Amino acid sequence: MPVPVRDRLGRPLHTLRVSVTDRCNLRCAYCMPEDDYVWSPRKAVLTFEEVDRVVAALMPLGLRRVRLTGGEPLLRRDLPELVATLRRRLGPTADLALTTNGTRLAGVAAELAVAGLSRITVSLDTLRRERFRALARRDALPAALAGIEAARSAGLPLKLDTVLLYGVNHDEVGELLDFARDLGAELRFIEYMDVGGATRWRLEDVVPRDRILAEVSGYAAETPRPLPGRGARPAERFLLERREQVFGIVPSVTAPFCRACDRARLTAEGTLFGCLYARRGLDLRPPLRSGATVEGLGVLVAGWWRGRSDRGAEERAALPQRGALAPSEVLRLEPWLEMHHRGG
Ligand code: 5AD
Ligand code: SF4
Ligand code: SF4
Repeated sequence: MPVPVRDRLGRPLHTLRVSVTDRCNLRCAYCMPEDDYVWSPRKAVLTFEEVDRVVAALMPLGLRRVRLTGGEPLLRRDLPELVATLRRRLGPTADLALTTNGTRLAGVAAELAVAGLSRITVSLDTLRRERFRALARRDALPAALAGIEAARSAGLPLKLDTVLLYGVNHDEVGELLDFARDLGAELRFIEYMDVGGATRWRLEDVVPRDRILAEVSGYAAETPRPLPGRGARPAERFLLERREQVFGIVPSVTAPFCRACDRARLTAEGTLFGCLYARRGLDLRPPLRSGATVEGLGVLVAGWWRGRSDRGAEERAALPQRGALAPSEVLRLEPWLEMHHRGG
């Protein structure tokens, strides 16, 4: 019988992020700045049934949270069907979340809620239409806002994720805080990371945690109070008492927190990665497609997780000089290094 696993740093496998497609309908400057990309062949992309088998294999190892991501997961037709399947698999109380850019959400938010989704995180970097168009290279702010509204009406708990870049949207901290408060959503500011895909990354463009806190303090005219109980969550959370608002910061560049990282990532093609920065993963597609049992898959994954020692962001932070992780030529040869492959 498999038992809950721990890796070499004692970390459990509690969370799985599943990228259901590597495609995206936006081209955010911090994620997909290039003009063309190598896409996964359709036949290589896991079916919903295969994703379900991977989740089934991980549950006895300790899995208790699944997040669907991409690329843009709502480009995958019938996503509510996968949500319903995974809800049955995980049981009624496990956390089943979705990360989306929101542009295709308006038509399916209610269906996702009915299918058993627990909550939604929408990426929203700016509230200005022209700026959105420049940053994401698509004129899609109205669609994203409609998606956010639909998620709210469907009663889905909502988070908003904002990647801050100097000279692009660093001046919108206050407006975004107001927007999130009015919506009843928790806003999280994310440091611009030097992950695969961010081929234009420069340290100067990162808005660091301490600067974000200073911006928020100035805007709110109060000092954010740190909330305890971060656990394995990537975000530090803060309370603005007078505004009655909680917000988060994901300080993956200046204050990474790998010690508690309980996340594995499954690419759309079926490779498990133990870290955003990992170059090698465990390819589950061959066993999935040659009749491996759920138990057999579990044994493979358990062995792999026990050998995990990744601390990618902490290692990057210790480098004397930092630049992009890999140039675009390398990413074309190893596209699985990209964020839109392994899931944000
Ligand atoms: N830095 C930080 N977050 C990133 N994402 C993609 N690329 C980056 C990056 N370079 C994350 C964002 C986005 C999600 C889909 O992936 O949070 O909202
Ligand atoms: Fe932007 Fe997310 Fe698409 Fe990347 S995957 S381009 S962050 S919407
Ligand atoms: Fe986890 Fe890797 Fe991110 Fe660190 S850098 S928190 S180990 S995914």
